[in-house]
Parts: sequence; structure tokens; C-alpha cells
Amino acid sequence: MGGEAKDGLVAGHVSLWYGDSQALRDVSLEMRPREVTALIGPSGCGKSTFLRCLNRMNDRIPGCRVEGSFRLGDQDLYRDVDSYELRRRVGMVFQRPSPFPLSIYENVAYGVKRHLRRGKSQLDATVERSLTEVGLWDEVKDKLNDAGTSLSGGQQQRLCIARALAVDPEVILMDEPTSALDPIATSSIEELAASISRERTVVIVTHNMQQAARIARRTAFFYLGELVEVAETRELFATPKDKRTEDYLTGRFG
Ligand SMILES: Nc1ncnc2c1ncn2[C@@H]1O[C@H](COP(=O)(O)OP(=O)(O)OP(=O)(O)O)[C@@H](O)[C@H]1O
Ligand SMILES: [Mg+2]
Repeated sequence: MGGEAKDGLVAGHVSLWYGDSQALRDVSLEMRPREVTALIGPSGCGKSTFLRCLNRMNDRIPGCRVEGSFRLGDQDLYRDVDSYELRRRVGMVFQRPSPFPLSIYENVAYGVKRHLRRGKSQLDATVERSLTEVGLWDEVKDKLNDAGTSLSGGQQQRLCIARALAVDPEVILMDEPTSALDPIATSSIEELAASISRERTVVIVTHNMQQAARIARRTAFFYLGELVEVAETRELFATPKDKRTEDYLTGRFG
């Protein structure tokens, strides 16, 4: 099960409609294993829509239609994997920290109980390992029964990441995970995203160019539902090939 990501995620010719309105246009993107890929672009250009496709969160939206393919290794995410299994393998972290109304312990144990059969001692070990991985163990080990929501915003976000990691996913998706956090909490989430990517595939949506520069090996620029260009982050920022990318990076729109 799970473990180190050998294969990245590959999206091929993805188009998506909400009813009659097209939100993604023929997007193809390889998100390589053991790297952070950043998705940037102005508000409303389809970044969250694209990210949600990667673990089929759009399935729940009435009137939403997706075309194209998503591959994880030799498997097609929409044909070969059921959405329940998919959400174990592809975890999601949201903009606002969203702990369940449960204790710290139960927040992390939640997915493990649902997805994997584990005895109590294995469960305890998984909770400890996951909280340690996000740097939260020492802060919470004496209050595991306190409510997850009693933690600070930055701690809650790390708790949510621990919850996602506990089921040992190959891919972690993050949708503006630091936009509600102060600079110190932001920097700890960035370090965490970088360390998670040593073993897993990480895809992060960000409005913060410095953040992309700090942690993402490659960056993809979206505009009006299209993927305009993707390149090594340094290269994209230094020598964008498309005028729209250049205009966005220099603050001419967005
Ligand atoms: N559930 C939905 N139903 C209908 N339209 C939607 C839905 N979610 C998003 N859209 C539309 O799809 C387009 C892309 O939205 P999306 O949220 O993916 O953009 P985004 O790049 O993540 O923007 P932001 O940077 O503001 O988060 C927008 O026009 C938006 O209004
Ligand atoms: Mg968004």
C-alpha cells in the first residue's frame, strides 16, 4: 500500500464544464513524483477546478462534466480507481484549516480507521508518526483528546496535513494552504510541503510567487482555463515564453 510515489500524476487534454460554462480548456500537465508543482494564475482561471479534478472532488458538483484523462502510473483515476480509494491515494489540504469536530487524535485517526484496518497500537503509532512528520507531536502529545479546533490556525493546518498523511497517500494536493496564515506558520507549511515532496508528489495552488519560487521545482501558469506554460520555476520566472505569463508575473494583470 501507499508509500513512496514512484509515478507522478499526468493530466491529458482535460476540459471541464460547469453546466454550459467551460472552466478548463485542453489542459495537459505532468506533475512529477517527489517534486512540488505549483499552479499559479489570476483569480478564476481554473486552478482550484483543476486541482479538484485530481481527486475527483468535482464529481460531487451537479452539472460538472470532465473530459480527458488523469493517470497515476498505469492507472486511470476516473476508470481504474474508485473515488473512495482515490481519496486515500490522493490527499487534499484546503485554504482554510478544516479540522473535523473531533479530538486531535481522532482527526488524524479518522481516515486510517476508514481506509485501513489497524489495531489500537498500530493506530497510536500512525497518529504519532503523522503528527511527528508535520512537527506537531511535541506540541500536542499531552493533549491528544482536546478538540482539533482548539489549536491555532497554523497548528490546525498542520493537523489537516497530518490527517492527509496518515493514510499514506502518494499525492498531496494543497489549495492555497497558507493564505489564511501568518508568516511564521506559512514558512513552516512551506518547509513541510518541501519535505513531504521528498517521498510524494505535491501539487500546490498559490497566489504567492515567492512561495512558488521557494518550494516548487516546476510551475504551471493558468489563464482563463488554459494552461499557458509550464517550466522549471526559475526558468518560468526569469524567461517566460508567453506574453500572458510575463504580464502576470510583472503584475500587469491578475
Ligand atoms: N462549483 C462551481 N460551479 C460553477 N462554476 C464554478 C464552480 N467552481 C468554480 N466555478 C467557475 O469556474 C471558474 C474557475 O474557478 P476556480 O475556482 O477553479 O478558479 P481559481 O483559479 O481557483 O480562482 P481563485 O484564485 O480565485 O481561487 C470560475 O469562472 C468559477 O466561477
Ligand atoms: Mg481557487
